[in-house]
Amino acid sequence: MTPRPASLPQSLYVHIPFCASRCGYCTFTSTVYVPEKADAYLAALEKELRARNVFRTDADADALPETVFIGGGTPSVLSLAQMERLFSFLPKSKSEFTCEINPDSCSREKLEFLRDHGVNRLSFGVQTFDPDGLKLLQRRHSWDQAVDAVRMAAAMGFSSVSVDLINGWPRQTERCVREDIERAVDSGVHHISSYNLILEPSAAGYARYCELLGGEIADEDVGRRNWEIIEETLESKGFTHYETSNFSRPGFACMHNVMTWKGEEYLGIGLGACSHCAGVRWGNIEDLERYCRDSGKPEAVVAYSEKLEGEAKARECAVFWLRLFEGVDLRAFAKKTGFDFREMYRDVLPGLAAEGIVAVDANNIRVEKKFHPVLDSILEYFI
Ligand SMILES: C[S@@+](CC[C@H](N)C(=O)[O-])C[C@H]1O[C@@H](n2cnc3c(N)ncnc32)[C@H](O)[C@@H]1O
Ligand code: SF4
Repeated sequence: MTPRPASLPQSLYVHIPFCASRCGYCTFTSTVYVPEKADAYLAALEKELRARNVFRTDADADALPETVFIGGGTPSVLSLAQMERLFSFLPKSKSEFTCEINPDSCSREKLEFLRDHGVNRLSFGVQTFDPDGLKLLQRRHSWDQAVDAVRMAAAMGFSSVSVDLINGWPRQTERCVREDIERAVDSGVHHISSYNLILEPSAAGYARYCELLGGEIADEDVGRRNWEIIEETLESKGFTHYETSNFSRPGFACMHNVMTWKGEEYLGIGLGACSHCAGVRWGNIEDLERYCRDSGKPEAVVAYSEKLEGEAKARECAVFWLRLFEGVDLRAFAKKTGFDFREMYRDVLPGLAAEGIVAVDANNIRVEKKFHPVLDSILEYFI
């Protein structure tokens, strides 16, 4: 067993690498659900959690993670019995406990189980409510199944319900972009993640999407126009745009992700899961068989690991933190990293401020909102 770290990370991420079927655009670590493989995986997951010796199922309240996030893949593809197995060894969370759900594998029984076992936030993978879009994206649910699932969850007492949408898919109209947002809001959600479709050459459906898009994959104008429509529509309905792809009703930002963007440490367990603990970042292997065989010896399932120290660590923290529209709190940054943000970036800040790209206040530095659609290119200055 690995020695327990002196300071515990704030969060726990748990990866479930199974889906009912695979969507051609997706490159997340996941494979088609087979009950026996999922049984073996859950046993391996328990072994990794115990061997890492960071969070314990029976821990006192002080030693629990602030947030837990079960993601995938598709956690809701697990049977009720498998969910029971999973929750028999996971710690509770002090504050936020999220589980990702796909509408086609959602049932009242599963939601009741999750609610009764401490899950207080659900994140639904809807992607679009448009019937043609659902077919094109190879989703297994219909639009009314998605609306029913989200409404049922919203009425069941979860503190927060979120919907994931994808925009920029082939032949999607501006009207559809707006209607997707309106339908999500009308179904009673507190949070919406709206992603531009990303197509990696390694995605199974890459060639098909390239053909359908007719070479328009990187059309920045479409992305920018969609962004404007989404932001206008959501802000008119009382949502706050708090990160490039994320919107919430006031007080409903995803605490797990916000903490990660502000440099808080987290433990990730499972296939391909990433961690940042005690100053070390590592990622697990993506070979399911090997993971199931070796997860009891965590060092054997690590694919890469790096220790970031000093200024390199502070710079990495700045790059994540700048993703948030609220920007970097300079005092909190100095406390966390030991570095003075203004001093560290004295060569680039004046130029970026003069061009109106970053706003600099007494205790805060942020990237101006209109530059967030091209945030990645701006963050290059801070790496
Ligand atoms: C970890 S995935 C899993 C969610 C869930 N299995 C689902 O598909 O409904 C989380 C979200 O990432 C987004 N996503 C996945 N692949 C994407 C891609 N290639 N481009 C943009 N967003 C993507 C989708 O919105 C998805 O809901
Ligand atoms: S988008 Fe979700 S359901 Fe589709 S393959 Fe990826 S993780 Fe699985």
